[in-house]
This record gives sequence, C-alpha cells and structure tokens, in this order.
Amino acid sequence: MKLVLCKNYEELSKKASDIVATIIRDNPNAKLGLATGSTPIGLYQNLVKEYNDGKLDFKNVKTVNLDEYVGIDAKNTQSYRYFMDFNLFDRVNIDKNNTNVPFAQGNLEESVKDYDKLLEDFGQRDVQVMGIGANGHIAFNEPDTKLNMHTSIVDLTEETIIANSRFFDSKEDVPKKAISMGLADAFNCKTLVVLASGLSKHDAVEKLLNTTKIDTQFPLSFITLHPNCYLIVDEEAYKG
Ligand code: F6R
Repeated sequence: MKLVLCKNYEELSKKASDIVATIIRDNPNAKLGLATGSTPIGLYQNLVKEYNDGKLDFKNVKTVNLDEYVGIDAKNTQSYRYFMDFNLFDRVNIDKNNTNVPFAQGNLEESVKDYDKLLEDFGQRDVQVMGIGANGHIAFNEPDTKLNMHTSIVDLTEETIIANSRFFDSKEDVPKKAISMGLADAFNCKTLVVLASGLSKHDAVEKLLNTTKIDTQFPLSFITLHPNCYLIVDEEAYKG
C-alpha cells in the first residue's frame, strides 16, 4: 500500500484525478470502477475540467459503480445513479450505455445476480476509486463477522445511516439497505485508489495504518492485500 499524504482536499482530489486521467490517456478504452459520496466529488470535477480543456476523451470509457441504495428511484436526487450522472456522466462524452450502477429496486435477488454477471463480463478494471466509511466500511461492506466476496444486499449500520443523513431531509429518510459489490469484485482492479478526507475519517485511517491484521470487523484492513493500492489522505484525515 502506497500512502500519499496531501495538504488538503484539493490536493487529494488532484492526486486522485491525475491517476485516473493518466489511465484514460494511456488507454482510451479504460475500464473504471467508481464511487459516490462526498469524497470523490473533487476528483470528478477535475476530470470534467480536463474533458472541457480537451485533454480527456470518455468516448470509449466504461464504468461500474460500487453500490446503490435500495428502493430509491434512479431519478431521485439521492440515488447513486443520479449522483454519477450529475457529477460526471452528464458532463463528459461518455456513452451512458457504458456506465453501470446496481439497479436496486423491485426484485433485489435478480438485481444482485444481474450485477454479478455484469461484473464477470466486465472483467478487471484498470482502476477502482473508493472512499471509506468512518467505521471502516468500503463500498457498503460494513463491519461484520463475515464479509461478502460478491454482490449482495446489505444492511447499512446505524453509524452509516447517521453519517449519510447529511444528504437527506432527516435520518428516517436514509435507506436502510443497499446493493453493494463484495470485496473480491471491488478489488478486481489493476490499481486501487482509496481516498480519505477530513477529521471524521481520522480514526479509521489511524487504525488502518497501525493495524497488523486483516479483520472483517474492519473491512478497510483488506485494502492492504491489494498489490497496487494508493491510500490518498489529507492532513485532517492523517493527523486528526
Ligand atoms: C460510496 C461508497 C461508500 C463511501 C463512504 C464514504 O459509493 O461506497 O463506501 O465511499 O461511505 O462516503 P463519503 O465520501 O460521503 O464520506
């Protein structure tokens, strides 16, 4: 794991977007794994800027996303499909048919099977971008006695529901479940870029940097197993 220390969120976003942009420039058919949440917004803004400056072409880029809330319509502004369209896909020349976010309505078991099939067909991503939960979750793999290898329907922990309530009118409005990629699929990438910004992530970052074991109760610990992982953190997340 390569630790990349940044002064602030802007620098973190630039480091992350440089990695992703280089991958796209090296391979115009690049396959990207993407994440939602507030952390990667700056990264997406930088990619949009590079596109607007004529330095990036998304025409043949393909994407898969880590997760989606259960029961929220894709048109709902809180859905992760909406987030991706709003923050990136609608702002660049990507073919929306080449973008994939789990479909988390109706028959969820079918959606899980469909996403697993899609991930298998999609194959290894050139890069996977990931944020982290304050409780050490990655994608929506929450601390538990056992973690999933592949896509599954997950219960969000109270901590995650409270953390994500900042995007909703009230805590009660936050979905209690999500469909999430499992760890084997989340790590099926040549380069893993894990981002942590702000004080709320400090405890998780500190625990990760001091841990010597892999622990299902701390899913973030598993990133240490990836052969090409960048942990990009800003000063607040690093120093507290
Ligand atoms: C989002 C995801 C989550 C977030 C995490 C951090 O697709 O998989 O694991 O990365 O909850 O969210 P933010 O960035 O909002 O702090």
